[in-house]
Amino acid sequence: MKNMVILTGAGISAESGISTFRDANGLWENYDIMEVASIEGWKTNPSLVLDFYNQRRAQLKEVMPNKAHYFLAELETNFNVTIITQNVDNLHERAGSTKIIHLHGELNKVRSVKNENLIYTWEDDLMMGDFGEDQAQLRPHIVWFGEMVPEMESAIDIASQADLFLIIGTSLQVYPAASLIDYVPKHAQIISVDPNPLPLDQHIYHIRKSATQSISDLKEIFKI
Ligand code: APR
Repeated sequence: MKNMVILTGAGISAESGISTFRDANGLWENYDIMEVASIEGWKTNPSLVLDFYNQRRAQLKEVMPNKAHYFLAELETNFNVTIITQNVDNLHERAGSTKIIHLHGELNKVRSVKNENLIYTWEDDLMMGDFGEDQAQLRPHIVWFGEMVPEMESAIDIASQADLFLIIGTSLQVYPAASLIDYVPKHAQIISVDPNPLPLDQHIYHIRKSATQSISDLKEIFKI
């Protein structure tokens, strides 16, 4: 089976009702990134940061995977699929995808501020005073701006073995995630899906549609 690597971003969850970051009325129009999604913001006002992620975690209970998430899961019958997602939601899992790398962490996980290996599943509000077994405050298991991306090495390894590389729903403005395309082998076919133009080479086939509207095009390209 051919290796298919799929880099997803907030755009694939947009049709499930989860705001993207940089579209009109996106999350970063309503919040200051540095206040709620950076290590400095956490040090300055941890309660504000916890509230931001509590709201997003609560929303997960109200939304469902959309047809695009399910289509990516179905691709596992035809390809050896690995999803490398920048999304912290659990919609790829809930749609049935089995190999997922969360580059920027997961909303439904928290970890000790003292020991980053002490990670817990957490689906409700996280408050100041919620401690891990090491008696240290718990924080969202999210990669904040200014922090390293622990899964980047495994993501590069996967991207470097791609026969097919799909980019769905990301503005490719955040590094190092956006640099993954540089590790894709020369022989690989690269296809992007986004209703807006992307900063990509002309030779990359761009389907200017939403994730769900692109499914028929992708089925034709993959002959499935
Ligand atoms: N289908 C496909 N793509 C869509 C759709 C849709 N229905 N709606 C919007 N898009 C596209 C937008 O055109 C845009 O290119 O999705 C992209 C979303 O871009 P961003 O909002 O920048 O989200 P993303 O690329 O995932 O951001 C990367 O930035 O803030 C950080 O950590 C955060 O993981 C996030 C990272």
